[in-house]
Amino acid sequence: MTAAKDSDAFVFFGATGDLAYKKIFPALQAMIINGGLDMPIVGIARPGWTLDKLRDHAKASLTEHGSLDAKAFAKLSKQMRFIGGDYNDAKTFTALKEVLKDSKRPIHYLAIPPSLFGSVVKGLDVSGCAKGARVIVEKPFGRDLKSAQELNRVLHDVFDEASIFRIDHYLGKEPVQNLLYFRFANAVLEPVWNRQYINNVQITMAEDFGVQGRGAFYEEVGTIRDVVQNHLLQVVALLAMDAPVGSDPESLRNEKLRVCRSIRPLDPKEVVRGQFRGYRSEDGVAKDSQVETFAALRLHIDNWRWAGVPFYIRAGKHLPITATEVVVDMRTPPIAIFDEIPESMSNHYRFRLSPEVIISSGVLVKKPGEKMQGDPVELVLRRQLRREKSPYERLLGDAIRGDTALFTSDDMVEVAWQIVDPALNNAEKVTLYDQGSWGPAAVRDMVDGDDDWHDPKVEKSPC
Ligand code: BG6
Repeated sequence: MTAAKDSDAFVFFGATGDLAYKKIFPALQAMIINGGLDMPIVGIARPGWTLDKLRDHAKASLTEHGSLDAKAFAKLSKQMRFIGGDYNDAKTFTALKEVLKDSKRPIHYLAIPPSLFGSVVKGLDVSGCAKGARVIVEKPFGRDLKSAQELNRVLHDVFDEASIFRIDHYLGKEPVQNLLYFRFANAVLEPVWNRQYINNVQITMAEDFGVQGRGAFYEEVGTIRDVVQNHLLQVVALLAMDAPVGSDPESLRNEKLRVCRSIRPLDPKEVVRGQFRGYRSEDGVAKDSQVETFAALRLHIDNWRWAGVPFYIRAGKHLPITATEVVVDMRTPPIAIFDEIPESMSNHYRFRLSPEVIISSGVLVKKPGEKMQGDPVELVLRRQLRREKSPYERLLGDAIRGDTALFTSDDMVEVAWQIVDPALNNAEKVTLYDQGSWGPAAVRDMVDGDDDWHDPKVEKSPC
């Protein structure tokens, strides 16, 4: 059943692309299973494809991802339409208009490179397909502040902000939402969640694999554009923001935006860029590429809550483990009554965002024996990841319902670019690192004081 303001046709540009294959088809089938997609699904791609070929492609995607469900796929196939055509050709959009003749509120998903947004948005406008419509756009949203502003301008020429859904799939992840919930559904955190009690905050997004055949794409982005400007700054915002005045999307966005506005633009001297050995032999990668596959950086949040508390971010490919984790490192007691407590044993909160969901609190208890020595222990709350909705299923469903809460606004995107802009197009050469290491050696010395990086470890106990 669709509600009055729900979209009534799902159109996706880039239907034969990588993103459609990996994420969109599985999400569409899941939405059909859960009853949230009773509408025409129109795939658009270059000429040479047919509806049958697209159906086979969708089936291959679902089979490969182990989620093919015969009944749901039959329904998906029945709802599918196909238009083959050039995005610069008015005929493509006339054909789309014809397919959408019974639709009043289509939603157009631009799963295509940003360089094509302009032509598609214009085509939708001229053909009348933008009337009453919503639009979903994928990251990367621009390459820097200037291009993001230009993209926002292109979209705003045709769509109002409330009809634009900028996807950052991290925001659709259950454990990322849990950061917000955990912080503001419990009263115990707020009194200590500030510069008086917190020493530093570390966010590590480690992947033990490389660019997985996406060398040409990676050459255009690099780690800072790929995951720092979007996913990891969103995590910083959720960790550092003040309590929103309400749970409505606007209040949430306002607080996130407010804290991001107090993040100082990156100082290139506080950024280490690395590249794994072997990257230059990947398909689509220049032999002398200076694109980073690893970045570590220090952020400063210049507000009353956080002044002087560094937020460290580290992300990279071919690291020792695949895990995304936040460690909020608390200060040690002001006076050592027992033995001096090493910084590495200080109290902490740990949020494992993937692959498991873990929220834990690290404290010291007395080691059994005569001496007053500390034993670090963690009080752990865990939840399973399995059976969660995929972020794409969640976000596409929200966009269809017009719920903007988990999407990025124009000003948030621009402020995020403002923060990372000084570190882009860095003249400094990347430092090579060995596959399976924690990046260039210089990164080790980045954390202030006696503290060190908290490296995510393989979780031994079953979740
Ligand atoms: C994507 C990046 O946005 O996020 C990839 O382009 C990265 O490079 C991926 O691997 C990580 O997301 P997830 O959900 O698989 O942890």
